[in-house]
Amino acid sequence: MSRVVVMDLRRHNTVLVGHERYFIFAADGRKLLVRDWCPHRGGPLSLSRQTADGRRLVCPWHGTKVGTAAVKRTSVPMVRSGDEAVVLLTGTEADAPVTVIHKRILANLPPEAESTETPACLPERAPAGAHE
Ligand code: FES
Repeated sequence: MSRVVVMDLRRHNTVLVGHERYFIFAADGRKLLVRDWCPHRGGPLSLSRQTADGRRLVCPWHGTKVGTAAVKRTSVPMVRSGDEAVVLLTGTEADAPVTVIHKRILANLPPEAESTETPACLPERAPAGAHE
């Protein structure tokens, strides 16, 4: 089953189709829609960081380094007209709901730009030895 999804790239960077996730990955000055799936155990590569050389993404779950070339190979066909992108997703379930959203993507940050924010899914940790 193939699905056609229309994205406004000014407002959307993530596509959810049933249990499948895709995110916009900026590579070599181009925007690609790639699978948000780590080959180790399916972690969210959209939340990864690039290595210092920019050639790999480090999965936030267990630290597997995935080559950006391999990530780019998961890109799906996308035709752009300005900020509008028409995406063709193949192999999706016929009745799977499709959601197009915007979420913060850390994979596109340069490696030097370390975030000091705690991801929303993780609790703040008290420093070692601190008592509450
Ligand atoms: S799921 Fe990515 S390193 Fe384990």
